[in-house]
Amino acid sequence: MIQDNTRVAAVRERYKAAGQDHVFTFWDELSERERESFLLQLESFDPVALNITYAQATAFSKNTVIFADLSPLDPSEVQSTLTATSEEKDEWYTLGMKAIANNQAAVILLAGGQGTRLGSMLPKGCYPDIGLPSHKTLFQIQAERIFKLQELARMDRAKRSGQSLDSVPPVVVPWCIMTSGSTRHQAEVFLREQDYFGLSADNIIIFEQGVIPCFDKEGKFLLDQKNTIATSPNGNGGLYWALRREGVLDELAKRGVRYAHCYSVDNILIKIGDPIGIGHALETGADVTAKAMPKTRATEPLGMICRLGGKIKVVEYSEMDPGLAALIDDRTGESVYRTGYICNQICSLDLLQKISGILQNKGQDTLPYHPALKRIPHVDLRTGLFVHPEKPNGVKLELFIFDVFPLAERFACLEVERSREFSPMKNATGLDSPSTCRRDLERLHIRWIGEAGGHVEGKAIEQIGPRLSYAGEGLEWVKGKTIRAGALESRDDALFIKH
Ligand code: UD1
Repeated sequence: MIQDNTRVAAVRERYKAAGQDHVFTFWDELSERERESFLLQLESFDPVALNITYAQATAFSKNTVIFADLSPLDPSEVQSTLTATSEEKDEWYTLGMKAIANNQAAVILLAGGQGTRLGSMLPKGCYPDIGLPSHKTLFQIQAERIFKLQELARMDRAKRSGQSLDSVPPVVVPWCIMTSGSTRHQAEVFLREQDYFGLSADNIIIFEQGVIPCFDKEGKFLLDQKNTIATSPNGNGGLYWALRREGVLDELAKRGVRYAHCYSVDNILIKIGDPIGIGHALETGADVTAKAMPKTRATEPLGMICRLGGKIKVVEYSEMDPGLAALIDDRTGESVYRTGYICNQICSLDLLQKISGILQNKGQDTLPYHPALKRIPHVDLRTGLFVHPEKPNGVKLELFIFDVFPLAERFACLEVERSREFSPMKNATGLDSPSTCRRDLERLHIRWIGEAGGHVEGKAIEQIGPRLSYAGEGLEWVKGKTIRAGALESRDDALFIKH
């Protein structure tokens, strides 16, 4: 393969004009094949535009003036499943279940992150060491919850229409999984090998977000190989563009979907496609309904849902002013900024289409990139050796999923109970780790049994398989009984203790 010299010269010129021609340092050493793949990558980027993106992103992060204009959400702006009446919750549930039963809901899993804090090379969804008695991974738990939700919605439809279950067609909640270059292959193979955990492959839409070059601290592109610029996924805000580019929005529209529940891969308690959340969105007419909860401590890594100049603004924990994060309201003794964002929201398809249309017309850079200082392995330009820095040496840029919230015509915030809905797996040990996820799942499931009138005896971990119960429903059969702890996948697994 011989490269056309004018093509090479044109690409070189563009990178030179942008002050990024160091990327050609090893050009003379490359084979024709290596040059070709490098050229393709170089042509896919606009170095001048990327310089501007880098400059804007790093300037933005130094700008703390906005904090003067920031205010917490007014309590009246937040509804809560903890204080809502049972009639309200029933109404949301009924509305949401009806929409799901009519195939109007989809779920979007954000699974493009690299999971570096967890220290695993696997996508988080395949992480094998949560230590659950069932040995399930996050992907399996999520797939089974979708399976159960579809079943519950079908039963709901049969009940509402007075038809027998057999005469009601299956309900479909499409599972759209956003991956990235780092997670796609492994996630795809894993799901295929596990036969999609019983879901139909036709209803699983795996798609890929974009990437952006990694920079050194001076804004120069880092090389991952002598013929490759180091890149990283462009943040979970890359969702909106990927949904359009990969044809996911068209597919969802074709299927008649009206609402999509977007959620983070690592929350073991995620109520996927939550009927209450979807019903809340339908009742309030909100095009974004973000679930939220107070922080447990000022330094908990949760974004804060706030207002800035009258608009909704989520301030990421890494960018929040520590003084504001720690501010306590003297009257209530609670944090002033208490509405924690948990990367869990229901969006109308109309909004997703509107956003992706804006991005198509004005470019993806319409959303701000956020910088993060990281340790980025790279090829040393002087020695040509690959180095693993011990200290942060470069900058990754990310789009944040919540930066589109100001575009919503109607934004709703629904506070939910942490112990029922949120326990993320971020770190290998300590807080927000596999062991806290396991503990929280166990506690919730023991609670469900208690709420159904049963008891659990023994210290072993209790786990109720999602196919047995989606959110604690259908456990009436434990009433008045004591169950020996263990993993319950079906009623038959329950070992009752006779007193
Ligand atoms: C995220 C939220 C934070 C929230 C916290 C709750 C963002 C930007 N921040 O922070 O406000 O309080 O979760 O746990 O949403 N992902 C991609 N592609 C990427 C990067 C991430 O799909 O390029 C996915 C991850 O796989 C994950 C989700 O986005 O499912 C959140 O990413 P993560 O890095 O875990 O975010 P946090 O820093 O924990």
